[in-house]
Amino acid sequence: MSGTVSQLPVAIAGTGSYVPERVLTNADLEIMVETSDEWITTRTGIKERRIAAEDEFTSHMAAKASRKALEQAEMDASELQLIIVATITPNTLTPATACYLQHDLGAHRAVAFDISAACSGFLYAMKLAERLISDGAFENALILGAEKLSAFVNWDDRSTCVLFGDGAGAAILKRAEEGEGKILATDIGTDGGQTDLLNIPGGGSACPITIENADQRLATLAMVGGDVFKQAVTRMRDSANSVIERSGLKPEDIKLLIPHQANLRIIEAITKRIEIPQERVFVNLHKYGNTSAAACAIALDEAHRADKFGRGDHIVLVAFGAGLTWAAAAIRW
Ligand code: UT7
Repeated sequence: MSGTVSQLPVAIAGTGSYVPERVLTNADLEIMVETSDEWITTRTGIKERRIAAEDEFTSHMAAKASRKALEQAEMDASELQLIIVATITPNTLTPATACYLQHDLGAHRAVAFDISAACSGFLYAMKLAERLISDGAFENALILGAEKLSAFVNWDDRSTCVLFGDGAGAAILKRAEEGEGKILATDIGTDGGQTDLLNIPGGGSACPITIENADQRLATLAMVGGDVFKQAVTRMRDSANSVIERSGLKPEDIKLLIPHQANLRIIEAITKRIEIPQERVFVNLHKYGNTSAAACAIALDEAHRADKFGRGDHIVLVAFGAGLTWAAAAIRW
């Protein structure tokens, strides 16, 4: 589903991110499962990831990222009208993590709900918020990608436990003033025919966790890595190309590409196919691993605060994840 902005333009007024203090290195994982720093580095590019404390939930990380975004946007939480949290690791199945966050922030005027689109979730939230603001339903929105994946990882499964990490990223969207940057084009897509490639099979209504199945660790991430890899490359290439083209841009106009941070080899493959040189691609997966919905959000904030792009520059975000889902956004900052 594609969209170019036809009504009120929408800008990003602030970004924020947070990662937990505890660092889990590849060397630490070598002690936990049969793996090696060499395997993890060459196959994924990941060197370390952050792990939330036991009493640090998804909404807590989201709140820390949100406060930084609010500060940068020079806004008070009480002004927020809409909060959308993209997560596959909510505090509780219900209510939504966005409700805990709304209360924590004191954003009492905001309508708050979660969306579940895995690693594409932050960009799904961006599209939704952009449309709702553009249509005039809301004046502003706080969107988040926030995950505590460490709570849903099988720490005995070397094929998945080395990949994921925890963290949160936030952005404030609002109507753009004259001369400000704006979201130029967005793209979201879903293929529900491949739900088996990447999922958390247990813990939902299809397979509740019971005393009988408790030892099977069904409420943990399962992935057919190779198949997901191939799909990730083609879907992200197509989604990124779609927003670049519909924005009237060419690859050489893109100051920075911010792709989902799952695997360095996937990032290299898509940037080659989109024809954007590697030096204009933002990568931080070596520090955080794959943080699902939080990955693009954290990367956007880090790149922004590191002045990797500035006013008037064009950037493209692109993501892919379980569902299968994919999404992209082209933004003039
Ligand atoms: O965020 C949503 C999107 N997610 C992704 O995009 C992830 C996509 N997939 C991937 O990034 C890659 O498929 C993985 C990193 C998950 C795996 O890399 P791969 O090159 O596809 O490896 P593989 O799964 O084909 O495994 C190759 C070998 C196997 O051994 P054999 O069968 O060849 O003897 C695995 O058992 O590597 C073995 N292996 C490991 N060895 C050491 C798997 N995990 C590990 C490990 N350490 N942690």
